[in-house]
Amino acid sequence: MNAPRAALCLGALCAVACGSGRGASTSCVGDTGEACAPPAIAITPEIKARLATLALPKSGPLPPADRTNAFADDPRAAALGQKFFFDPRFSGPLLDEANDGTSGTLGKRGEPGKVACAGCHMPVNGGFVDVRSPREQLSLGSGWTHRKAPSLLNVAQMSFLMWDGRRDTSFSQVFSPIESPLEFNSSRLFLAQQVYRLYRGEYEQVFGPLPSLLDGFAALAPTDAGCSELPKDPLHENCTKAGHDDPAVVRVVVNFGKAISAYTRKLGCGRSRFDEWIDGDAKALTADEQAGALLFVGKGACTLCHSGPYFTDRQFHNLGLGGEVVPFTGVSTVDDPGAAPALAELLNDPLNSKGPYSDGYDGRLDSLPGDLSTLRGAFHTPGLRCVSRRPSFMHNAKYRSLEDMVDSFSQGSSPSGYVGTSENFARNFTNVERSQLIAFLKALDGAGPDPTLLTAPPM
Ligand code: HEC
Ligand code: HEC
Repeated sequence: MNAPRAALCLGALCAVACGSGRGASTSCVGDTGEACAPPAIAITPEIKARLATLALPKSGPLPPADRTNAFADDPRAAALGQKFFFDPRFSGPLLDEANDGTSGTLGKRGEPGKVACAGCHMPVNGGFVDVRSPREQLSLGSGWTHRKAPSLLNVAQMSFLMWDGRRDTSFSQVFSPIESPLEFNSSRLFLAQQVYRLYRGEYEQVFGPLPSLLDGFAALAPTDAGCSELPKDPLHENCTKAGHDDPAVVRVVVNFGKAISAYTRKLGCGRSRFDEWIDGDAKALTADEQAGALLFVGKGACTLCHSGPYFTDRQFHNLGLGGEVVPFTGVSTVDDPGAAPALAELLNDPLNSKGPYSDGYDGRLDSLPGDLSTLRGAFHTPGLRCVSRRPSFMHNAKYRSLEDMVDSFSQGSSPSGYVGTSENFARNFTNVERSQLIAFLKALDGAGPDPTLLTAPPM
């Protein structure tokens, strides 16, 4: 608890904030030091019904069927995917000189084999976010990423992936980190050859015969896997190798992605105290947290976008978040065009959910607006379950605490530093409302994924 919030918990307010003791983060205890029952907060049936649309059913959260991936629910694919997720041996050399081998970096410049998915989506605290990179804002892989690594909890609920929606299938998403000179700094061919060298037997058990990708192509050494220098525009340029368009090579990378997706779709935040409260356990939320829930659906108007049991409409919105030159990294997040160019690219991508590598199409691309220019500067609405496990917030990691994050909604759009038309507006929260809203967001924490999903399996 930070100082201003502690100071708020005084006198009359303390009586209001008296909690059941379960959401101890913002609640107080009575004068005697005993935890007391929350005073009833007046909630009309209409508001209760609105809140109920945010709750997860008792039967527990289940990922929706994934038509694009025939292996989505194959346990052998998930077991293999878990190995892939933790294995750094698919990555090429580290390029940015910020990689000096000190804590927070994955190794020294020039060293290959250091970057795994788990390097930026870390299972610590079950959050699958980057709490390693210096400052915990942008991620340092081979270089500095230009956006924040999102949490992977409940990722199977999203129809579009990446902050800008650049990917619409989980299997194609892996191409982004693999080929980016800022992340794996690797290539399709090197990845496929490593699968052949290291995982042939296990791969074939799930996906069938694996052609020798060492015949007909030069065998790439780890130091030759990707670029040898950071390209001028590392966001849009990479160092394509032979075999890039070879259907056999692409198929192996796609199957690598399908295995990883079978694993990541098991990662969920789980039910929270908020869901128990909706189920009728009046003491599951403190009075502060209940007041925060009311603000969320009321004055905050948060459910305009954070709707449904995962707190996301799965759409794209412009919040008018001014970018900055991120301290430490030199990366500028000013004027990020977001979804407009990314979705245009996605529509033409052979790896999308309509393309030949997808096992089925569920119509998700048809939900996009005809005129994508309306999505300039828009980003996809992140889900908010387990939000308090994240070290920083927003696509540009602009805010490093929930306090700062809620203040930004209090103030509305930034004056500059973004493109497009902002949908954001000032809420002018009082200090009390601010702490209540934060208390509510923290109450969305759950048990997190099964512990067996949090560790690297023997490889
Ligand atoms: C160097 C850090 C880094 C590494 C390594 C990395 N990621 Fe990411 N990941 C990110 C960043 C940053 C984003 C957001 C990029 C963007 O939106 O432009 C992201 C986005 C994602 C998303 C989209 C989630 C969402 O809700 O939109 C998924 C899924 C994902 N990564 C999975 C993986 C997998 C699987 C691997 C390994 C093959 C991996 N990542 C490796 C940093 C990393
Ligand atoms: C107009 C749609 C919209 C409304 C209304 C809205 N949000 Fe969001 N929210 C978003 C989008 C889009 C993002 C990601 C923005 C970005 O990174 O550019 C976001 C990001 C967030 C994040 C950061 C999550 C993360 O992983 O970085 C939090 C927390 C959040 N919103 C909470 C709230 C709260 C609380 C309210 C109400 C006061 C609210 N939002 C209202 C669309 C909305």
